[in-house]
Amino acid sequence: MVLDVKTLEKEAKKDLQAVQNLKELDDVFRKYLGRKSELAQILESLSKLKKAERVKMGKTANAFKDTLNQLFDERRKALQTANYKLQTRAEDWLDITLPAKKVSTGHLHPLTLVQRQAEQIFHSMGFGVAQGPEVENDWYNFGALNMPQDHPAREMWDTFWLKPENPKSKIQNPRQHLLLRTHTSPVQVRYMESHNPPVRIIAPGTVYRYEATDARHEFQLIQLEGLLVDKQISVANFKAVIQEFYRRFFQKDVAIRLRPSYFPFTEPSFEVDMSCLMCGGKGCASCGHAGWMEMMGAGMVHPNVLKAVTYDPREWRGFAFGMGLDRLAMMKYKIPDIRMFRLGDLRFLQQF
Ligand code: PHE
Repeated sequence: MVLDVKTLEKEAKKDLQAVQNLKELDDVFRKYLGRKSELAQILESLSKLKKAERVKMGKTANAFKDTLNQLFDERRKALQTANYKLQTRAEDWLDITLPAKKVSTGHLHPLTLVQRQAEQIFHSMGFGVAQGPEVENDWYNFGALNMPQDHPAREMWDTFWLKPENPKSKIQNPRQHLLLRTHTSPVQVRYMESHNPPVRIIAPGTVYRYEATDARHEFQLIQLEGLLVDKQISVANFKAVIQEFYRRFFQKDVAIRLRPSYFPFTEPSFEVDMSCLMCGGKGCASCGHAGWMEMMGAGMVHPNVLKAVTYDPREWRGFAFGMGLDRLAMMKYKIPDIRMFRLGDLRFLQQF
């Protein structure tokens, strides 16, 4: 038995070169290294040889087997690489070392920013936060605030009334007559009903008004109600609190004025104007060329409101105010038109 290593190796190399794919490689592999290959037969018959010959032949055969295996491995790798390159087109390549795309996170709405800042300032002055429902009833929105049915002052708030579930039913009880609250003042009543004096709260929240919009008016706005009830309270306390609030909010002294006004639930009542920060008080479109911007309604809590929540008006007194946060935001960021806040225009919102 002879093993012509040289010839076999030459042939194998030629065959391997001709191989085009892994399937063909398999066939060639079987030819040279399979169970029926010449090499396998020689290795099998080794045992029949005499010792000296066996050792010599064994060495040659095994060395050749290693050589062949190596040749096949190389060819297999080459074919696999070629295969992979064929399957992956250039545009499919993914460079995992590239820096990632920037994820842009959302941010708070300017009105939310202003609300949070206002809450924080009042909190530091000892005010807690109270809340009430946006769908209110006639009693809390009007009745308990010293405005019985048919009181002309109800006209001050153009109201979105909610239809009764049964359109034929006549609602007798004002607590069943629903509306979208026109101001946050009903929260005063709800809070005082369930808490004993003294009281020191703010109540921020959305209110609705059935009215035409312009640069200073929206049918939906955020109000921040304030209520302080104690024993020795006067308008001077109110003025000090509000001036301090503005000083901290705008981080400078701003000119304000108290203008006599009328609300059924306060006596005396006044409106607080602020020198328009947009035009420095000269008058512009935003302040209706007045030089002053109306910032809130306020007053000393009316005895009838205290009575409605069973506080004794001879013992307790307080002030209340309701400021529009939209207008506060207008002054802070110098926004000329209140309607911009709710347009949902990203070009506007992304600036905050
Ligand atoms: N609720 C009033 C309004 O919406 C404002 C106000 C609040 C006035 C508290 C006096 C006291 O116009």
